[in-house]
Amino acid sequence: MNTTPEFVRIFDTTLRDGEQSPGCSMTPQQKVVMARALAELGVDIIETGFPASSQSDREATAQIVRELRDPTLAVLSRCLPGDIEASARALEGAAKPRIHVFLSTSPLHREHKLRMSKEQVIESIGTHVAMARSYVDDVEFSPEDGTRTEEDFLHEAVAVAIAAGATTINVPDTLGYTTPEEIRGLFERMIANIPGAKDVIFSAHCHNDLGLAVANSLAAMEGGARQIECTINGIGERAGNAALEELAMALKVRNAFYNIDTRLDTRRLVPTSQLLQRLIGMPVQRNKAVVGENAFAHESGIHQHGMLRNRNTYEIMNPSDVGWPDTKMVLGRHSGRAALEHRLRALGYTMEDEQLDQVFAQFKALCEEQRVVEDEDLERLIDGGVSGQGY
Ligand code: KIV
Ligand code: ZN
Repeated sequence: MNTTPEFVRIFDTTLRDGEQSPGCSMTPQQKVVMARALAELGVDIIETGFPASSQSDREATAQIVRELRDPTLAVLSRCLPGDIEASARALEGAAKPRIHVFLSTSPLHREHKLRMSKEQVIESIGTHVAMARSYVDDVEFSPEDGTRTEEDFLHEAVAVAIAAGATTINVPDTLGYTTPEEIRGLFERMIANIPGAKDVIFSAHCHNDLGLAVANSLAAMEGGARQIECTINGIGERAGNAALEELAMALKVRNAFYNIDTRLDTRRLVPTSQLLQRLIGMPVQRNKAVVGENAFAHESGIHQHGMLRNRNTYEIMNPSDVGWPDTKMVLGRHSGRAALEHRLRALGYTMEDEQLDQVFAQFKALCEEQRVVEDEDLERLIDGGVSGQGY
């Protein structure tokens, strides 16, 4: 029985789908560093690479296999004997090896990419999933471009993969084309109707071309998926993959709604995100959910005032639950007197109302010259550096 375990498996593909996108490549050493961080974060499966594609992926996988015993280690293979052999070799000695076999099933890919008939696709899936199973007990099959595949053919392809020994069926929304409503129904019908579906884990792999990757992954889960494929910071082909940190926090914050959680240590989310940003030299945007610099920062006077009374007024997560030291109260043009007073108190300055009014007026004037007022600016202002008066 596959759809009832009480947690969602997190399959992290930062080192494969993430790494293969422009500007995100990593050396084998960097991949090892990242794999350690992913293991510490508590992901269930790490996809370490695509061994048949490069020496660098083979090296990285071999090193990660030597070092990590706990998360399952997966590698990608096309439906080609050489790929599957390369994958099996790269995983030699792994405590929990998984071969991830994929083949396109959509009409567009069958006709223009593979130049294969439906019958040839079905035969290839059966042969290569069985071949992967001859090397390892844990085999994942992905019908690439699954969400743009005729539904009856998708069911047929998945049924063949299950019969050949696949233990996880991952349905990729390769082009980020589906919608939450659509993918929820797709998973419900696959699990209800495909022979053998109840004996395997269903998984969703959503791309972000329409900005729906996380919403679609959550909807697939509502439809019965119990593995989600995602990447740190949502890196990946084109607009990226579903962002792990967003999925993890949606499941945690809205647990009463989803009633299922991951096994992640969410306090490792920000350090892991920052590690990846440093390794590949790709910072996330300031307003990125959960891990962006502004995710727990407040500048407007109304919000700061509310936060000072009760943090739940403008925050739905505790920053420390995701690994930030604290909320940031940014002092700038939109900030009010309450936030300035709070900051000044934290710096050791207590003032009478009149004195505070004067500092506030000078603070506002300074905000016309610079976007953010830092502690040093306040110190200078208090010491008379700005006003020339001192306090
Ligand atoms: O997006 C995709 O279809 C993939 C598969 C290879 C799983 O990354
Ligand atoms: Zn992908």
